Parts: sequence; C-alpha cells; structure tokens
Amino acid sequence: MHLRVVLVEDSIDDALLLEHFLQLGGFDTACARVETADALRAALAGGEWDAVIADHVLPSFSATGALEVLQRSRLDIPLIVVSGQIGEETAVSLMRAGATDYVPKNNLARLIPAIAREVRDARSRADRRQAAAQLLVQAQLLRAVGQAIFATDTTGRISYWNPAAEQIFGWTAAQAIGRLGQELVTTTLDRQRAAEVRAQVNSGQAWSGELQVRRRDGGLAPILMSASPTFDEDGHSSGVVAVCTDIYEIKERERHLAALAAVSAALREALDRPALRAVVLEQVLALLRAAGALLIGADGVVELGAGRWVALTGRHLPADTGPLGQALEGGAPLVAEAAGLPQLGWLAAAGPAGEEPVLALAVVPLRARGQALGALAVGSGQLISQAELRLLEAIADAAANALYSAALFEQVQGRAEQLRAVSVLGQGLAETLDLPQVYTNLFQAVLRLWPDSTGVTISRFEPRRQLIQYVFVNSDGAEQDPAGLPSFAYSPDAGGPQSQAIRQRRALILGDLPGATRGRPMTLVGDSNHMPHSGLYAPMLAKGEVVGVVSVQALSPERYSAADADLLALVANTAAVAVINAQLFEDAIRRLGHLEALRDIDVAISASLDVEVTLTVCLSQVTQQLEVDAAQVLLLNPTSQMLDQAGSRGFRRANPRLRVPLRLGEGPAGRAVLQGVTQSVPDLAREVGDPRAALLAAEQFACYFAVPLVAKGQAKGVLEVFHRQPLDPTPEWMDFLETLAAHAAIAVDQAELFNHLQQSNAELSLAYDATIEGWSAALDLRDKLTEGGSQRLAAMTLTLAGALGVPDGDLVHVRRGALLHDIGKMGIPDQILLKPGPLDDDEWASMRRHPIYARDLLTPIPFLRPALDIPYCHHEKWDGSGYPRGLSGEQIPLAARVFAVVDVWDALTSDRPYRAAWPAAEARAYLRAQSGRHFEPRVVEAFLKADGLFPRQLQLC
Ligand code: C2E
Ligand code: SIN
Ligand code: SIN
Ligand code: FE
Repeated sequence: MHLRVVLVEDSIDDALLLEHFLQLGGFDTACARVETADALRAALAGGEWDAVIADHVLPSFSATGALEVLQRSRLDIPLIVVSGQIGEETAVSLMRAGATDYVPKNNLARLIPAIAREVRDARSRADRRQAAAQLLVQAQLLRAVGQAIFATDTTGRISYWNPAAEQIFGWTAAQAIGRLGQELVTTTLDRQRAAEVRAQVNSGQAWSGELQVRRRDGGLAPILMSASPTFDEDGHSSGVVAVCTDIYEIKERERHLAALAAVSAALREALDRPALRAVVLEQVLALLRAAGALLIGADGVVELGAGRWVALTGRHLPADTGPLGQALEGGAPLVAEAAGLPQLGWLAAAGPAGEEPVLALAVVPLRARGQALGALAVGSGQLISQAELRLLEAIADAAANALYSAALFEQVQGRAEQLRAVSVLGQGLAETLDLPQVYTNLFQAVLRLWPDSTGVTISRFEPRRQLIQYVFVNSDGAEQDPAGLPSFAYSPDAGGPQSQAIRQRRALILGDLPGATRGRPMTLVGDSNHMPHSGLYAPMLAKGEVVGVVSVQALSPERYSAADADLLALVANTAAVAVINAQLFEDAIRRLGHLEALRDIDVAISASLDVEVTLTVCLSQVTQQLEVDAAQVLLLNPTSQMLDQAGSRGFRRANPRLRVPLRLGEGPAGRAVLQGVTQSVPDLAREVGDPRAALLAAEQFACYFAVPLVAKGQAKGVLEVFHRQPLDPTPEWMDFLETLAAHAAIAVDQAELFNHLQQSNAELSLAYDATIEGWSAALDLRDKLTEGGSQRLAAMTLTLAGALGVPDGDLVHVRRGALLHDIGKMGIPDQILLKPGPLDDDEWASMRRHPIYARDLLTPIPFLRPALDIPYCHHEKWDGSGYPRGLSGEQIPLAARVFAVVDVWDALTSDRPYRAAWPAAEARAYLRAQSGRHFEPRVVEAFLKADGLFPRQLQLC
C-alpha cells in the first residue's frame, strides 16, 4: 500500500525510525518531515498526502498546532499522535481536537493497523465526495446543456471540465484537470470582481454575474457565470462548481443595440435629410471603424460620402456597379473582400492614397415602407463580420426610415410652402384685372416655387385661330419682349410641348428637353452651353377651356416630378381664372370704348350737319378704335356714278391723285359699293384691281378693308381701312368696323337729308314770302292808296334795323313783320278805316285794336310767329303812351321801335283818306319833335342820318 505521510517530528532519528517501522509494517512510504506550523502548511499545500503523524510536543510546535493547521487546510486526511508518556486526559483532549488516534512510542506496533484503517477510510470518503460532486455536476449539466461547466475541489484545483468549457476557454479537459482553476480562467479585466467571487463562494454562498475571462489564446471572453459551493454528505465543503455561458453573441448584440440606439438618437436630433445623412455616415464610420462610407440615392447619385470617400459626394455611379446597382433596386445585402467585387474596384480605390486601404466592402439597401431609397456602402481596412453586416443592415433600416420620414416631412412642409405661394398668387391675382400684372404675378409665383428655373414662359392659346402666342418670356432672369416673338400654330395631332400640353389638358414633364424637341423649330432655344434639359409645361385651364400654357425650364435633366407637375397645374389654373377675368375686363373696356366712339359719332352727326365734320369724327374713331393706320371715305355721286373722296386720315402724304374718283365696281372699294359686301384684302401687294395700287404701296400699306356705306338700302359710298402691318381681325373687330361704317353711312345720309331739307325750306320760304307780299300789297291798296308802300317800308326798316343791331337771322322776320304790320286793319270796318275826317272815340277804340287783331291773326301760323313784333307793337311809344299795351322804352321790341319811325314818316308823307301828305321837312321836324316821346331817340337820329339810303322815297316825298 502506497502511503504518503507528513511527519511532524523534531528528531531526525525518530523520524527515520518511524519511516523504517512503517516500511516494516508493509507500507510503501514517501515521507516528509516538518517541525513548524509553516512548514506543515507548505507541505500540505505542496503535495498529495495520505496522513499526518505528529509528535506530541516539539520545541516550537505541537500535535495540537498540527491539528489546527490540518483543519484549516480543509484536507480530509487522518492525523495520528505518536508520543512518549502522556496522561490519559491529554490523549482524550487530543482526540477531541480532531486527532484520529494516539499511539504511544512504547507501543508502535499499534500504529500499523491504525494508520491502515484511517487511510482506507479517508480514501473512501474522498471517493464518495468525488461521486457526489460528479452527481451534482451531472444534475447541473442537465440544466445547462451547451454551457461550460467546471468544478474545483476544496484546494481550488479543477476536478471537472466539460467539452463546452474546452470551447469557451480553449483548454482541453486533460490540460485543465488538476490545475488551479484560478490560474486557468482568471479574470484579468476585473480582478476585484474575481476576488469578490472567490470570497463569496468560499464563504459557502453562490455567486452569479458577468465576467471577462482570459482564454488560452489570450483573448478575452465575456461569460455569464454561476458559481456554487459543493458539499459532501457530511455537510463539509467539497469545492465549487461553475456553470458558464458564452455571452459573446449576446454582448455583441448588446453592443449593436447600443450602437443602434445611438444612431436612432442621433437621427432623432437631425433636422433634415442632409443632417440625417451626415449622422448616419458618422455613426457607421465610428461603429464599424470603417475607412469610408457612402449614401447613394435611388437615382444612383452619391448623396453623401464620408471618410476616404468624401470627394464622391454628388457623383453619379458608373452604369455597371454590380452589387451597388442591385442594392439600389432593393437587392440583398452583401459583404465581401474588395478583391472579390471587381465592379467595385473603383470604389475601393477611391479616396486619398496613403490611407488605410479598403480591403472589404459591405453594401446594404436602404428600404422604407417597401420603397427602395438607395444604398449604404461601407469600406473597411479589416474584414467585415456577418455580425457587423447585420449591424449595418439595422443602421440602414433606421436610417432609411428616418430619411423616409424626413422626406415625408419635407414634402408636407414643402407642400405647405407651395400652397402658401399659390395662395399668395391667388390673392395677388384677385386684386388685378390688368393682364400684364397677371403675367408678372404668375411669373413671380413660378420663380418662388422653382428658384432654379432658367426660363419661364407664359403663352396664350387662341382656339379660334388655333394659334399660340407668347405673352411673357423670362429667360435667365431677363424679361424678353413677347411682341418680338412670332405666334405659332397649335398642332392638334403632333406639335411641340406647348401643343401637347394644350391637347392633353394636363402638365407635360420633359426630362430630356433637347431630346424631346430635337428636329423641331423652337421659338425659344438656349445656346449649346446653356441649354435647359428639363421642361415642365402646364396648360392654363379655366371654365373648361385652355387659355394658355405656363412653362418652366431648368438646366439639369429630369428636374421635374409628378408633384411638380401637379403644382404647376394648380398655379396655372389659378392664373387662368385671372387671365379670363382680366380678358373679360379688357373686352368690356374695349366695348365701352367702342360704344363711346359710336356715341361721339352720333353727337357729331346731330351737332353738325356738315358731312365733312361728321366724317372727320368718324374717321378718327375708326383709326383709334380699330387700331389701324389710315382710313378714308369715298362717297358715291349719284349723277356721275363715281366715288369721290370725302375725308381721309392717317395718310403720310397728301397725294392729289388719291383724290381721283374711282369708278363704281373698280378695285375692292368699287366692288364693295357695287356688291354691298365688305372686301378684305389681307395682302394689299397682291391686289391688282385697284388703280391706286402704286400710291397705296408707296404708303406701305400691308392690308386693306373696304366696307360699303349703306343707308336706307341705298349705297352712299365706301369706308376704306388701311394698315401697315398684317392684320388677322377677330369677328368682334370686323363687327365693329361694320358698325362704324353703318354710323358713317347714317352721317352721310343725314347730311344729305339736311341738304335736301334746307333746299325745300328755302323753296317754301320763297312761296310764303310771295304770298305775304301779295297779301301786303292787297292791304296797302285798301287804306294806303298806293300799292307797294309796304315793300318800301320793309326795305327801309331792314336797312335801319341792320344798322341798329338787329341780328341777321332775324331780318327775314323783320321784313315779314314790316310787310304785314297793318294786317290787323283787316278787322277794321271800311267806314272807320276809310273815313275822310277825324275819328270819334268809338272809332278810335276800334282802330286801336288793329295790333291785337294782328297778333290774333298771326299767332296760329308758326312760320309767321317770329314776325309778330312789328304788327303787334308798332303803335307802342317810347314814353309809354302808345297802344295796345302801353309798353315803354326797351320793353318795346327793337324791330317795332325801328318800324314806328319808318311807319309815321311814311304815313305823314303819304296821302291818307283822312288827309293829304305832309311836306318832307315837316315830317322830319315832326320826327325830331317826337324823339324821346313817341320814338326812341337813336332810331330817329339814325333814320334822319340815313336819309341818303332812301333816295327814291325821300325825293318822292
Ligand atoms: P295811318 O294813316 O297809316 O297813320 C299812321 C300813324 O301816322 C298814325 O297813327 C299817326 O301816329 C301818324 N299820323 C298819320 N297822319 C297823321 C296826321 O295827320 N297828324 C299826326 N300828328 N300824325 C299822323 P294813329 O294816329 O294811331 O292812327 C292810326 C291809324 O288810324 C291811321 O293809320 C289811320 O288809318 C287811322 N286814323 C288816324 N287818324 C284818322 C282820322 O282823322 N280819320 C280817319 N278816317 N282815320 C284815321
Ligand atoms: C475564477 O477565478 O474565475 C474561478 C473561481 C473559482 O475557481 O471558483
Ligand atoms: C411648341 O411648344 O409647340 C413650340 C414652342 C416654341 O416654339 O417655343
Ligand atoms: Fe298801324
């Protein structure tokens, strides 16, 4: 039997004797001798022992001390006291203190069986403990499949080591068992934690928690460990069992989660997409310790580069980018060595030389809500693990979502901004009825919404003539005069972008403007260095009609999206309503102008019966309202059947040959009159029938219209209109031309009518006057004895009245009044009127009624009413003593005051039935005497001074 014994003995001889004795007893011994407590502790710790044999008393130690050391060592080995003479009492107390047996030196024979028994017992206890520990381990094992399990015994040596432990720590079971666990798997990162674990487990309690342990290869492994003390069946501590879980994966996940949380937090802080992109790349570079990172948009443009790829920002990816292209289309994520991705060689090589080279590439798609938003690419100087790829994917997901939300937000915000612009436009437009202002407002709104526009145009579409005309053009910030741009034809089946936008009645997006318009003549083209590549054309729709097209152009290709198209359509339609309103207003204003023109013409017609004056007004309105350069009127002479010029306006030279009459039917003017139909000559140069062609060409007239002047079904002449630019008149313009012609015809007709009337009036007057004169002569014959006396009186009265300020227009009435001055005497009976002697009172009363009879006779005759003054008032006197009303001074009409002098002069110097004529001198003296009484003095004076004017009568008297 092999026996390893520690001898606690101060005497070498005694020790040799004991060893010898044990060998005699049949033991194969290995002995160590110690004589102090420290030496015993060292011996026990340094080897495997079956028993301790101790002397009772040593110079510096004792059996009792040895017992204490042994118990402290927690070794389950027997201690036998071998000693000389000791008392029974001492022996018992040693046994109580834990000694296994006591053998006196004088009875050493007892030692052999005692030690054999104790060693056997101890060994079987150890075997049982081992089995119990194994059982415990098995039980733990059942619960912890895949976990590393090891056990240590009471000395801290590894007693069990499972295959999972081999994996985690890198030591095989053979290498591990028997070694001190502490040595093998010591935590190095956290010594304090390790000490704490040991202290807790040694005190009999379980510990569990995370630890970093050092693996055989020197690497650190994070583990989760549960360490529990184990006990033997007696309740003695038998070691520790530890169950360890490799938490590398978990830790890695945790690290990634933390990274993601950091990314998410940073993304939440970022305000817009540019900031988001910067955050994403910054985090990717930091978390993956990458050399470069890229965010690529779905369109293949690098939105942002970071690290060594900073300079790639804004660059277009080359066409064939293999994995990148696939990622952009939402393909699978990919990680590979750069050398394995030949299409991405350029990417690996991009960036400044001399920096860490890119050896591995990872590409992950950016996807949010089923939409491919682009890709995230990472280049690294080290291999990129699958775990890192997963982290990258997670970051890409977070980034894609954040970018997507930011885009949505920006869209909503942009939309609000856009709606604001549209509403500002709407308000501005509601406030104006001025078309140029409408165009300016519209242009400004468009520029606000698309500040990068290099061109903005507004054109009007005229459905009647199928023409498109630019009305506003701004190119590179400079406004162009649209009047300088020709209008072009709308094409209902092909045509350029303007025609297409009008035809399809919705906005047209051209991402490749030069391509789309190649081979088409375009009014507006940039030079080759400055060619717009995108165009957006929106029809202006209002009240169901297209009134025009708004277009924007930009230099970059594919500039405009469907959202841009919607927005421009909204803007265009908002403006279309304003255009229509302004147009209606303009029309109303123009019509008002037309009505005013017609009224002016009518006023001219009624105010002047002179056809030349009226035609001058007509022609001035024609040129103004129709906006033509020249106009003239030719009137038909019914006798000669020729067209004579009656008025003209707007000719540069007064060419007398233009006044040469046109024959009826000659040239367009002659045809207009003959056929009664308006003649339009859009190109005067090609009109050969007009004899005035050369003269009209010299005036540089381009187009011409001739409208017949017809009144009451009768041709009166022709209105000619000339313009030095081509005209394409609207129906409204033609209408108005014809209306003006109708008014001109009325003017001509009225003037003619008046001329006729004036003529017949004159004829009638002559007839009347002949009647009056005959009448007057008859009256003369009744009482004045001489025929023609009244004619003489009238002549004298007219001369005098003219000299004394009676208006010329009244003289005709003065004459008639003078001729009929005593018409009232028709009511005086012959016996009074022709009485040879003086009249009695009754006769006078009757005689004095003759002016009243005259008034009663003449008042009903309108033609003679203006001639009443003399017949009614010729017997009133300056001093108020006359009859029938006793008027005085200037109450008496001037004609009557004048006539009174002539009448009395004539009466006195003529024979009367009641007396003979007076001598002239007496009559003169009488007039002078009555001046200021019967007569107004200045009339008498004028009469006497004008003696010579009446030679015949005065001589006669
Ligand atoms: P008549 O004969 O034509 O006279 C017109 C006026 O001349 C008169 O108006 C009177 O102002 C003036 N006149 C005419 N004869 C004389 C005259 O001898 N002496 C003066 N001082 N004045 C004379 P009057 O007076 O109002 O008479 C109006 C008309 O009455 C006369 O028109 C005549 O037809 C008639 N008449 C006037 N006196 C007489 C008379 O004595 N006998 C008759 N039979 N008739 C008389
Ligand atoms: C250790 O230090 O990790 C192991 C502790 C022990 O053996 O109980
Ligand atoms: C078109 O759009 O039909 C032609 C445009 C132009 O000539 O400017
Ligand atoms: Fe009289």
